[in-house]
Amino acid sequence: MKNILVLGAAGQIGSELVPYLRKIYGANSVVAAYRSTPLTLEIQEGGPCENLDAMDSKKLFEVVKKHKIDSIINLVAVLSAKGENNPLMAWNINMGSLINSLEVMREVKGAIFTPSSIGAFGPSTPLDNTPQDTIMRPTTIYGISKVAAELWGDYYYLKYGVDARGVRYPGIISNVTLPGGGTTDYAVEIYYEAIKNKRYTCYLKPGTYLDMMYMPDALRACVELMEADPNKLVHRNSFNVTAMSFEPEMIAAEIRKHIPEFEIDYKIDPVKQSIADSWPNYMDQSAAQQEWGWKPEYDLSTMTVDMLNVLSKKLK
Ligand code: SER
Repeated sequence: MKNILVLGAAGQIGSELVPYLRKIYGANSVVAAYRSTPLTLEIQEGGPCENLDAMDSKKLFEVVKKHKIDSIINLVAVLSAKGENNPLMAWNINMGSLINSLEVMREVKGAIFTPSSIGAFGPSTPLDNTPQDTIMRPTTIYGISKVAAELWGDYYYLKYGVDARGVRYPGIISNVTLPGGGTTDYAVEIYYEAIKNKRYTCYLKPGTYLDMMYMPDALRACVELMEADPNKLVHRNSFNVTAMSFEPEMIAAEIRKHIPEFEIDYKIDPVKQSIADSWPNYMDQSAAQQEWGWKPEYDLSTMTVDMLNVLSKKLK
């Protein structure tokens, strides 16, 4: 990657990926594109920015030409729980930004990274040690759009030589920008509430295991995959990647090691619970390990130390 356009730069991943990429590739080589949510000050002041609706293919093409973009990181997505409120809107946004990005990268013979998700799996998938190649029949519109995006990515690679790559991210835990409308969001909210109120009401049942990852690992996974030797890639869209698997009682116990008074109780959200129940408990990530040397750094305990440390300063 040389000149990179990040779509969805104001979101949970984008707001941390843009500064991370600017450090590696140079401030002027990373363009942050946003639509309605404002960018962080750090991003606004740190390099080029464009107000761009990724659904507008003409404007997208102009921005790509203007900045001589060779790689798009397409982070535009309506997440799983929010998507269920308006499936058609979620489908149009998730697919529209993807197809426009693929088309423009076809024109310039570029590369594209599109995150897939644990949400691409469904209840008929083996939920323990979920294989890289397995049954994918998701029951959310988000998941359906992610499976379709994986297939579109591989199709553009095979048919047009577009260098399309992706990972299936688990729930991403971070402390700069909150996620919005996902099923795994509880694992972020719990840290904020632990600092603010020493208690959290969880919308998923105890025992609901899901794959998770701390943001620094998620950022590194994106760059390492995009810079991986293409000759070693058997898969492209998309690789299982994970860093830890836990359920609500485990994260609460870990927080209690630092905040002994912390309490968790439960008020189950049936929509989010049924989505979580349809997703893997833990994925097999050996393909990512073998094909591009993927290895996570943070586990539940080291992530908890860092999250509580950063948030206690931020929320003071
Ligand atoms: N974090 C996402 C969600 O919960 C999963 O990719 O929707």
